[in-house]
Order: sequence, then structure tokens, then C-alpha cells
Amino acid sequence: MPTFILKINNQKRNVEVDEDTPLLWVLRDHLNLLGTKYGCGIGQCGACTVHIDGVATRSCLLQVQFTQDVEITTIEGLSEKGEHPVQIAWKEIDVPQCGYCQAGQIMTASAFLNKNPKPNTSEIRNAMHGNICRCASYNSIEEAVKVAAD
Ligand code: FES
Repeated sequence: MPTFILKINNQKRNVEVDEDTPLLWVLRDHLNLLGTKYGCGIGQCGACTVHIDGVATRSCLLQVQFTQDVEITTIEGLSEKGEHPVQIAWKEIDVPQCGYCQAGQIMTASAFLNKNPKPNTSEIRNAMHGNICRCASYNSIEEAVKVAAD
């Protein structure tokens, strides 16, 4: 099996896996970064969202062979320099219910706010609509993104 050298959360990590292994499983099964969740495995739910060079990306669809020359940030890396404003807002609004989708939601929201720090409601809805929440806490998610943007 080939060895891949990945840059994850500002650290170089070596993994020996098949080249078509989805990044999601590299993170979870080989690097014990369990904050990134498996929901559907087919790019439909957003639970597996990470940042690739700052862009929200579904790690279940991204093969490890395409991740060697990029910066990968997971939910564990988001708060390396202290709690991220999106995470603070999430706690303030008390968003999570079951919590399963929250890492993906927060990764999507943080990448979005980096690009658009003062979004309007429709921009927030548009940015977040692809992240599915089975508890339907969409109103709280929208409110937390607004708080994080303040
Ligand atoms: Fe990747 Fe659902 S697990 S989008």
C-alpha cells in the first residue's frame, strides 16, 4: 500500500492506505480524528465536512490520493488557537440536539464566514442548506451563524 503524507491541523501525518480511500476514513480509522462524522457516504448530508485549503469539502467524496498538497483542517483543528467564534456562538445559542451533524455544520459555517463575514439571512440559508440536521435545528443553526458573524 502507498504511504501518503498529509498536512492535517498544521501537522504532517503519514498514512498507509489504498489511494482511493476516502479522506473521511483516513481521518477516522487511521488518525483517530473522530470529530468528522459519517452520515451518508455519498456527499448528501454534510456530516463529514472538513476544510481543504479553507474551503468546506465533503471528506467522504475526496480520495486520499488528492489530498497530499493541501491544508486539511478538521473540527479538532478549528479551535487550535482557542475556541472558534462559530463554536462560541453554537454554545451561546445551544444549537445541538443529538449533536451528530454539528461538526459538519460548524465546519461549513466557519468556512462560509471566512469568505463572507457579514452575510444576510438568505446568504446564510444558501450556505448552510446542504448540511442536513435530522433534529431539524435549522433555526438555531441560522441564529448561531448570525451571532458568530456579529
Ligand atoms: Fe459525506 Fe454525508 S457523509 S456528505
